[in-house]
Amino acid sequence: MAIRTIITLPDKRLRQRAEPVAQVDAEVRALMDDLLETMYAAPGIGLAATQIAVPKRVMVLDVAKREDENAGPNPMVFVNPEILWSSEETAAREEGCLSIPEFFEEVVRPVSVHVGYLDREGKRQELEAEGILARCLQHELDHLNGVLFIDHISRLKRDRVLKKFNKAGKRENEERKPGRHDIETERA
Ligand code: NI
Repeated sequence: MAIRTIITLPDKRLRQRAEPVAQVDAEVRALMDDLLETMYAAPGIGLAATQIAVPKRVMVLDVAKREDENAGPNPMVFVNPEILWSSEETAAREEGCLSIPEFFEEVVRPVSVHVGYLDREGKRQELEAEGILARCLQHELDHLNGVLFIDHISRLKRDRVLKKFNKAGKRENEERKPGRHDIETERA
């Protein structure tokens, strides 16, 4: 296991569409382990392989602590995930992203989704999710398609954040320290 570097805006690799995994082998399981270790270290509640510049359809989540602060860890791994169904009912909630540090905005998404995927053993599974889990699944699945949560907000707000990060990207060797808000709000 290893903590990998999380890429941030304006890195163009965040906009790549990730490739399906042909077989869940030892290499893919090692990638899952790295993703989980990197996510917990960040800390975050979800991480897609795209965010560590690996263009494969693999993502991890752990929303247990967000649902119940006394809960123990509940790492979840998803290979080749796809949304099979999403509810017509939507809700707005503030989101953050480890690849867009220190930016938070409300995003409207379906409240519930059904997701199909391969598990750690390569076995096909289906999951019905709602609330924070459903939101996080959609956020991470977007990453695998090169989509960021800022794509779901108003153009005015998106342009503002893109401009800020394009400027920051030009400054070299800049250390980014997480702010207080960063740690207290879920990021994925
Ligand atoms: Ni994200």
